[in-house]
Amino acid sequence: MASRMLLLALLAMACCRAIASDPSLLQDFCVADKLSQVRVNGFACKDPKDVVVGDFTFSGLHMAGNTTNKQGSAVTAANVAQIPGLNTLGISVVRIDYAPNGLNPPHIHHRATEILTVLEGSLYVGFVTSMPDNRLISKVVKKGDVFVFPKDLPHFQFNYGTDNAVVLAVLSSQNPGVIPIASTVFGSNPSISDDILAKAFQVDKTTVDWIQAQF
Ligand SMILES: *[C@@H]1O[C@H](CO)[C@@H](O)[C@H](O)[C@H]1NC(C)=O
Repeated sequence: MASRMLLLALLAMACCRAIASDPSLLQDFCVADKLSQVRVNGFACKDPKDVVVGDFTFSGLHMAGNTTNKQGSAVTAANVAQIPGLNTLGISVVRIDYAPNGLNPPHIHHRATEILTVLEGSLYVGFVTSMPDNRLISKVVKKGDVFVFPKDLPHFQFNYGTDNAVVLAVLSSQNPGVIPIASTVFGSNPSISDDILAKAFQVDKTTVDWIQAQF
């Protein structure tokens, strides 16, 4: 009997840990008060009397990002940093532009699942599952197609085409966070020692130093 109770308790915990977005609201909204000295998970709420329509809007996703950079891609974000009214709502959006051969390099959103739709062009997109399989799940998506990147899994988008590509992607967090794999590992501050990276990647230290110099 006791073991059955324990099993039920464990099942109940398993159910509630599976929630895959920011915690849900206990009120209509909690517009971020960025000036508050109060430290909470997210931002403290503005007095609802002081909330204005501008807290819920952002203009700019009609504009292409500047893809003149090493990766040939640009992310324009509209999350709680741009839209205070997103605080505690568990959602945000980005526009991503890709030049021909542009890459949004492998990265992780540790707080969000991402659902992307192609507005212009086509892209090769994919994500990799965890160990032991490390399976690559990938495909070419074109205008109108939708693709999902599950929370926490490393993913990328590459524009192999000859035209620019544009996507709109929605993420299940007001502040999805991003961990770009290459620059996190090879461009940390201070650097991870080249002894460690040489061993981790099974290459010599000169190669590690060369990669580190790129970031
Ligand atoms: C885009 O970025 C490049 C490199 O930083 C810069 O030289 C260029 O002026 C930018 N273009 C625009 C339109 O802002």
